[in-house]
Amino acid sequence: MEGRPITLSIDRIQTSAPPEAGNSVLQIWGRSPLHGHVRISGAKNAALVVLAGALLCPEHCRLRNVPSLVDVARMGQILSALGVKIQQNGDVWDIDASDISHSQAPYELVSQLRASFFAIGPLLARLGDVRIPLPGGCAIGARPVDLHVRGLQAMGADVQIHHGVVHASIPGVDRRLKGACIYLDYPSVGATETLMMAATLADGETRIENAAQEPEVVDLANFCRSMGAKIQGAGTKTIIISGVRRLHETDYSIVPDRIEAGTFLVAGAIAHSEISMSPVVPDHLGATIAKLRDIGSRVVRESHDCLRIIPGENRATDIETLPYPGFPTDMQAQFMALLTVSEGNSTISETVFENRLRHVAELQRMGADIRLKGNIAVIRGVPFLSGAPVMATDLRASAALVLAALAADGMTTIQGLQHLDRGYENLTEKMQKLGAKLERVPVEVNAQPEAESSASALK
Ligand code: UD1
Repeated sequence: MEGRPITLSIDRIQTSAPPEAGNSVLQIWGRSPLHGHVRISGAKNAALVVLAGALLCPEHCRLRNVPSLVDVARMGQILSALGVKIQQNGDVWDIDASDISHSQAPYELVSQLRASFFAIGPLLARLGDVRIPLPGGCAIGARPVDLHVRGLQAMGADVQIHHGVVHASIPGVDRRLKGACIYLDYPSVGATETLMMAATLADGETRIENAAQEPEVVDLANFCRSMGAKIQGAGTKTIIISGVRRLHETDYSIVPDRIEAGTFLVAGAIAHSEISMSPVVPDHLGATIAKLRDIGSRVVRESHDCLRIIPGENRATDIETLPYPGFPTDMQAQFMALLTVSEGNSTISETVFENRLRHVAELQRMGADIRLKGNIAVIRGVPFLSGAPVMATDLRASAALVLAALAADGMTTIQGLQHLDRGYENLTEKMQKLGAKLERVPVEVNAQPEAESSASALK
């Protein structure tokens, strides 16, 4: 390993948004052309679950291409709280989970990061007993964990929920989960990941039917396989895992972030600018690229891992969010920003999450013509948006506001940057490098920008 490693301890890991996130805003001056190339970071959602998966490994585990994000740091802090030793050197994390001293994840940490609940699978498989607080509500809907719990029960776990804490244990002397056939009522990404991790160390074969097929599920399977797990079918609707007694050390690189890449593709389309990006796995962006083509852009492969967007006149389309390989819910808000300035009438149906259209009100503040009917947004394209003070309401909504601001006349001021910091590595710097005019500026703590009243009304 190059350079001097930093040992992460609980108090050294940055677990909340950078101090400036709460009292800084992003100012963006729109309608400047973009150009050049942007580097895509490792995938947030893959990194989060691979970090949880590292709990399965009693030997040294090296992870590369780990993005520097608040959510990822939070997951690191949860691992530390469980007794895992972590050393970080840039985007390389060295993880030693040989000695897990605690089997209870702290509520303060789990409540800030829903994905930390996914650690229930590896912890149970490794220790035979685990307590994890329910992750609780979330800005984009109720997000229950019933599918995770029912799957673990099918594998022989005893699961009790008391006072908001899930206590899962494996009865019997050998404290080993039993292989089972599990049908998921819905192809939940998190439940598929929890159960796949749990099954790696189970006794016998586990079949997960109606499994999620997202690339992050495949990345987790590849990571587990690199440690000796026996997994087949990841990326299809049926995943078969033959349990092994023990996993071994690994050196694994996280897959590029398809949602970050998709966000930059939309940036090119909305700013009518040709930009390129790498590394990406073009096959992971099938639905995103198909919709950009419908809207009027061309996306070309410059090499096996490099894409370029060549924008055209933007026109309306209809989008329905679906599990992979359908159109990703994590790209819905960004495409809504694009459709607000695309000629004609578009619709967007959000079918994955129940409350993921809160950015509509903020886009309306910028002059977008959007009507909401339940979880369907009807968008009539306008020639341009106008800059306004707006509030980010969740992670992808914050990206949508940045994109909308690129197409807006005048200055947009975005508050709520803690959402952006959760999932986009150096977005401001990357956009600046492409020629966008934006900067993060501190604000007086007592200052009450105009957008606050409208956003708090939505909470
Ligand atoms: C993951 C991603 C998130 C993405 C989502 C869908 C991570 C860290 N997050 O979230 O960015 O938007 O996939 O692609 O990887 N559900 C249940 N019961 C359960 C589990 C889920 O009813 O036990 C429901 C949820 O409420 C939601 C739907 O299933 O309506 C999809 O959720 P799921 O696929 O589990 O998403 P996450 O894994 O939470």
